[in-house]
Amino acid sequence: MSRQIPVALVDELAPGQRKLLFVEGRSLVMFNIGGELVAIDNSCPHNGAALSSGQLEGSVLRCPAHGLRFDLLAGDQPDGGKLCVHTFPVHTTGDKVMLVLETP
Ligand code: FES
Repeated sequence: MSRQIPVALVDELAPGQRKLLFVEGRSLVMFNIGGELVAIDNSCPHNGAALSSGQLEGSVLRCPAHGLRFDLLAGDQPDGGKLCVHTFPVHTTGDKVMLVLETP
């Protein structure tokens, strides 16, 4: 079962911008990548650093702690590493951006 939670307005984030989200006890961060919204867990899969302050180059985010890079559109490491960021589906409904959370 899934739930949809409003997290932003559709015109809130311009391309290249990000927004920190706190949803049901989780810290997430949403990026606008060339008009596509991507929400990820705000915890680096390497050692838990906050990805919200990472440097974004195109769709690739560099973790501020140790510099590992993650392609946010693919969810994986463009350099061939095995770590993956946890992504969450988002979609728009009217003027709202909805985050989809799966419930076990
Ligand atoms: S915690 Fe992100 S690269 Fe190490």
